[in-house]
Amino acid sequence: MEILGIDIGGSGIKGALVNAETGEMLTERYRIPTPSSRKPEDMAEVISQIVDHFDYKGPVGCGFPTIVKNGVCMSAGNLHSSWVGVNIDELFTKVTGHEFTVLNDADAAGYASMNYGVGKGKDGLVLMITIGTGLGSGAFYNGVLLPNFELGQIPYKKYKKIEEWAAASAKEREGLTLERWGKRFNKFLKLVELIISPDLIIVGGGTSKKWGEFNHLITIETDVVKAELMNHAGIIGAAVACLREQHHGHLSEKA
Ligand code: BGC
Repeated sequence: MEILGIDIGGSGIKGALVNAETGEMLTERYRIPTPSSRKPEDMAEVISQIVDHFDYKGPVGCGFPTIVKNGVCMSAGNLHSSWVGVNIDELFTKVTGHEFTVLNDADAAGYASMNYGVGKGKDGLVLMITIGTGLGSGAFYNGVLLPNFELGQIPYKKYKKIEEWAAASAKEREGLTLERWGKRFNKFLKLVELIISPDLIIVGGGTSKKWGEFNHLITIETDVVKAELMNHAGIIGAAVACLREQHHGHLSEKA
């Protein structure tokens, strides 16, 4: 089934048509920068432009960069604080006329990797970590999603949340070399390893494109691999999640 997958990030909103049964992207990715206000109405307008671009008729799957429970935004993340409490499903449906399935963006990326990528068939605790404006984390235990893991929110030194220090946005803001930033990311992974002892960590998000240039800085014991779907995982996973909701009426089941 062909489904429009959308991945909403702090810097860009990206969409593509996906074969949600095979995980294959059927079109080029269409990207519009995230409005600088990062407010609900402005972002909903971009969603509507993306849906129009594909001249698409069916249900839409959407990865969203905050805690999402039953379609409702539960934290601001790196978006405007007025998002908190907004029913994202309803807002996007109102603006576009399409049915929406909305879930956390890293959970969506994890869905893609667990179904069609390096996570396929992997038991134990598998983590998808996405590196972008924030640090996202999707957790799967024996293939079942544990929604809304928020490992980027761990307080660290003077920072309220470690993602302020170790996400790709910190690298840009502080003009860090890949080497210096990579050491910070490794420190983040060390804390993650200490706290939850995962069996496998999959690294996705925009910065994972540079994996070959910083993987030598990753020194933790846990296996860490690149999501080969890279920054398409969020789009593909959102479409897969949407298909699951169409079939089963809920998301938290085996990936
Ligand atoms: C949010 C997460 C999100 C991550 C990546 C963080 O700021 O708290 O929910 O997954 O950014 O977008």
